[in-house]
Amino acid sequence: MTHRVVVLLSGSGSNFAAIATAARAGDLPIDLMAAVSDRPAAFGLERARTLGIDAIAVSPKDYPDRSTHDRALISAIDQYDPDLVICAGYMRIFTAELVHHYAGRMLNIHPSLLPAYKGLNTHRRALDDGAPKHGCTVHYVTEELDGGPLVGQAEVPVLPGDTEDTLANRVHRAEHQLYPEMIGWHASGRLRLVSGIVHLDGAALLEPVRRSYKNAQD
Ligand code: GAR
Repeated sequence: MTHRVVVLLSGSGSNFAAIATAARAGDLPIDLMAAVSDRPAAFGLERARTLGIDAIAVSPKDYPDRSTHDRALISAIDQYDPDLVICAGYMRIFTAELVHHYAGRMLNIHPSLLPAYKGLNTHRRALDDGAPKHGCTVHYVTEELDGGPLVGQAEVPVLPGDTEDTLANRVHRAEHQLYPEMIGWHASGRLRLVSGIVHLDGAALLEPVRRSYKNAQD
């Protein structure tokens, strides 16, 4: 049975596009139901429309406070009755109510090797630190910002002469492979969150799965 999936995004939606491409190619057992954004002008919504996927904006400007906005977001998402909600560059912090509502069925991708560089400007901070490696992490969403149980990570090198843009591009290449793979695991029932602990194939995952993708090494 295919998994019903709603994607949340705020920006360009390149992760959304990678997931949609994998789904269309038959590589992912998911039905992409909709893209939902806090930003009506997000290019990711445009990508969804082009693909014939529902595109919905739920702008915080239309609501008096964070909790009312997140309740509207829940309503927008739940009309699709999703099995899984995927955050793909959704740049707002959720209320506890929303996080609990989707407990165990909401994944996020973050552009760093968590727990390093939670929050914003991860590429800049890795460069400023002279970090030798960087990457991305897929995790379940909990109330702790970028702090939920880790599922998988893909490492990329930080190369001499890197700028924020070149490093971000390399991380993006890794994200576009890591996220579809982890989503596929969840959709096929291999990946589960049980009492706050990630399980893969029925066994507790003590460390995130580590991936290294050839086309994200240069
Ligand atoms: C991605 O790099 C994702 O990891 C990051 O936003 C970018 C969205 O790119 N997410 C976060 O920073 C969340 N904390 P995209 O719109 O091209 O998929």
